[in-house]
Amino acid sequence: MEKRAIVIGGSSGIGRALVRELHAQGYRVGVGARRYPLLEDLRSQLSEDLAIQQVDVADRNTALQALDRLVAELGGLDIIIVAAGVGGEHGGMQWENQQHIIDVNVSGLTAILNWAYHYFSERGRGHIVAISSVLAVRGNRHSPAYSASKAFASHYLQGLRQRVHREKKPMLITDIRPGFVDTEMVQGRKDMFWVTSPEKAAKLIFHAVQKQKSCAYITGRWRLVAWLMRLLPERLYKRL
Ligand SMILES: NC(=O)c1ccc[n+]([C@@H]2O[C@H](COP(=O)([O-])OP(=O)(O)OC[C@H]3O[C@@H](n4cnc5c(N)ncnc54)[C@H](OP(=O)(O)O)[C@@H]3O)[C@@H](O)[C@H]2O)c1
Repeated sequence: MEKRAIVIGGSSGIGRALVRELHAQGYRVGVGARRYPLLEDLRSQLSEDLAIQQVDVADRNTALQALDRLVAELGGLDIIIVAAGVGGEHGGMQWENQQHIIDVNVSGLTAILNWAYHYFSERGRGHIVAISSVLAVRGNRHSPAYSASKAFASHYLQGLRQRVHREKKPMLITDIRPGFVDTEMVQGRKDMFWVTSPEKAAKLIFHAVQKQKSCAYITGRWRLVAWLMRLLPERLYKRL
């Protein structure tokens, strides 16, 4: 039977590339994000079968209603991928920016993941995937709120994984941790290395999902950076 996937945050970047990848792999796909014209554009490029809804994860009630509409249009759901996220904190410490990061990357993410847990619990099975970051492993001076929001995402996913295991629910939870991916989010940054394209990231993410991985670094060598970040004593780490 045709598998059905929803990508939240699929209007640009990694999420948009994931929509394309899932479609190419034969999935029936639903996609949500705030910029509806970009979703219409994607539908006209891919297929009229693409289910689209305007979704702002920071507005829980309307976001969950839109999710219900997507599921209804797809006729069910097997995988949900939450790619929605904001950054933009780089270098600054503006409260408005940090609050926006918390609203989207923490509250918004939790609203969707919580919905997915209940949906898949009732249905009996399902796969939850969210895009965290390599920065989840340690706080970062360039982006204290963003790195903390990604630590939240990874911990939430880990908690869910432990919970569904204990509850013996056949549910899979995958934590995706990219390094640098060439998207709108990092446009103009000069300090990047090992940058990968959204298309390659989407292929690697799809592979990790198929392999039912708990956690995947994108690309794989970012695991080494994460390992070093974790290992470095605080007195050295704070000098970086
Ligand atoms: N690029 C990197 O180097 C990198 C590295 C590590 C992790 N990540 C993570 O990867 C994910 C995707 O980011 P990206 O790099 O692909 O950047 P992007 O091109 O800016 O994509 C972000 C996506 O999130 C959506 N989004 C933002 N706010 C939203 C909201 N309130 N409600 C619903 N959707 C919202 C955007 O759609 P609308 O604006 O249309 O709503 C867009 O589709 C993010 O979680 C990001 O933190 C990126």
